[in-house]
Amino acid sequence: MKIRLDKLISNMGYGSRSEIKKDAKKGLIKVNDMVEKNTGKLIDTEKDLVKYNDEIIEYRQFIYLLMNKPKGYISATEDSYHKTVIDLLEDYHKSFNLAPIGRLDIDTEGLLLLSNDGKFNHELTSPKKNVPKTYYVELARQIEDDYGKVFKKGIKLMPENIVTKPAEFKILSEKSCELTIYEGKFHQVKRMFEEVGNRVTYLKRIKMGHFKLPVDLDAGEYIELTEEEIKM
Ligand code: URA
Repeated sequence: MKIRLDKLISNMGYGSRSEIKKDAKKGLIKVNDMVEKNTGKLIDTEKDLVKYNDEIIEYRQFIYLLMNKPKGYISATEDSYHKTVIDLLEDYHKSFNLAPIGRLDIDTEGLLLLSNDGKFNHELTSPKKNVPKTYYVELARQIEDDYGKVFKKGIKLMPENIVTKPAEFKILSEKSCELTIYEGKFHQVKRMFEEVGNRVTYLKRIKMGHFKLPVDLDAGEYIELTEEEIKM
């Protein structure tokens, strides 16, 4: 892949493009061990060796983040009224044009993946892939005996007039449980509980595919995933 020298260095977290331009004038940037003052130069990320202050810059095209989304933020890249999950990122990560993979409601917390890798996004969100998503759910009323059976059979959702795929249900207490679903219809978990006469009072996603929300990751915090974790 080819990329401008200043964009490459700035994307890797070494400052703004104007700062990099100034440093280039000072002779701090080298391409293939030759000082390079033209920051608009196109770099071939497979062949060229870029050094900044004599440090080798390893270029990464794709970035993968796992966030514990807090309440009050929407799963979008921009919005005129609400704060978005992108607002929670450091400038360095903002420069990668990351997008949330799937959506969580504004009042839902928990695991949200973000990436600029469209193929990865598709793998996780395509309805054909049946990626499991597990939610921790707190309810307004007591759980009834038939919920497990009803969710396994599927619930009819209107106005789409679709039946949800078999879901797995695990009771944790009188009013809390875990629910694993294999699709992601609009407000799906809340609507499934409404259909059985209950109401979700707290919702948190704890798993998506093989990605788990680490227990020590506070709301609003995120970690970067490694290439190895992604390939799994
Ligand atoms: N189901 C919901 O109802 N809300 C979410 O945010 C995710 C799943």
